[in-house]
Amino acid sequence: MLRALARIDVAAIERNCARLVRVAAPAVLCAVVKADGYGHGAVPAARAARAGGAAWLAVATAREAAELRAAGIEGPLLVMGALSRPELTTALRARADVVVWREDHVAQLAAHPDAAGTGVHVKLDTGMGRLGTRDAGEAARTAAAVAAVPGLRLAGALTHFATADEDPAFAREQLARFMPWARSLQDAHGELLLHAANSAAALGIPESRLGMVRCGIAVYGMDPFGADPTRHGLVPALELRSYVAEVKPIAVGESVGYGRRFVAAAPTSIGTVPVGYGDGVRRALTNDCDVLVGGRRVPLVGTVSMDNVTVDLGPDPPERGAEAVLIGAQGAERVLAEEWARRLRTINYEITCGITARVPREYHRDGREGAP
Ligand SMILES: Cc1ncc(COP(=O)(O)O)c(C=O)c1O
Repeated sequence: MLRALARIDVAAIERNCARLVRVAAPAVLCAVVKADGYGHGAVPAARAARAGGAAWLAVATAREAAELRAAGIEGPLLVMGALSRPELTTALRARADVVVWREDHVAQLAAHPDAAGTGVHVKLDTGMGRLGTRDAGEAARTAAAVAAVPGLRLAGALTHFATADEDPAFAREQLARFMPWARSLQDAHGELLLHAANSAAALGIPESRLGMVRCGIAVYGMDPFGADPTRHGLVPALELRSYVAEVKPIAVGESVGYGRRFVAAAPTSIGTVPVGYGDGVRRALTNDCDVLVGGRRVPLVGTVSMDNVTVDLGPDPPERGAEAVLIGAQGAERVLAEEWARRLRTINYEITCGITARVPREYHRDGREGAP
């Protein structure tokens, strides 16, 4: 029994990708494996995504691209983020495609000794307000500059939606800004890969799928709309498990944990589960979370500390050593990352990305819940 374990079902990632491939076709799937595959492990996630039919992989940073290549992962790979000069070198040496939006980006690429053959994607900012240019003229000049450098390949045109999960109307406005520019680029430069959709758009805005969808959250079996992934036929890939390391009775008026934030109102037994905020169980879950023990939900009581949480096991506690599931299923019960996200007023992305490096990842193939 390990103190803490993130069990990752690579078959679930594979199935989720296969599902997204079917949903998005004829658009191809780019699986986004940045931030260590949203906490699932970038390399195993990338392999599973490829096995599930993802034609492309995308990361945010040059180092993430290098990590994938060092693990022997080949095929089309896009670095979506901004690149400083040393990072550009890393990205190019990883044979990744890169994103540009200014002519000086192109000049830097053109002068770079490792740039030959690099695929370049031009980004129009249609409403996200982060990377990309808002000026369609500048974006067109940038694309022309890429096309004029013999060693570079103008490979794609992209934008990114700000609200595909919560305001599809604004996402459609963004798409309406993107399309005339993207089409004129195709007129000028021939067939380019057009891509805009994240998971929410790929599932919810069919006309945004274009040539490729860039899906992250859905790949891992989480719901881009923050509700229930199973309604999209997605299978959660990650479970966070621990065990009950200690069980002790507690009398009325006795307290548990830092700050005495739980005081027993009735005699009960307290189980100590040796995971805490040092593992990604956020302190804001204090007195506000359920853990699965013995196939039922038991409340987390008292303050989440760095290495331990405590749960109220009631008058009939299980033995020491009983499995505790913090995220995942046990018997007929399950706790989704989405449930934590609701309690924490955040998004499921932050929950799995927040499971720290201290937690070992174990990979297995199960894929039990979802239909292929
Ligand atoms: C540019 C870009 N495209 C696609 C994605 C994937 O988004 P999602 O995880 O919502 O599918 C991200 C992730 O934030 C992104 O930054």
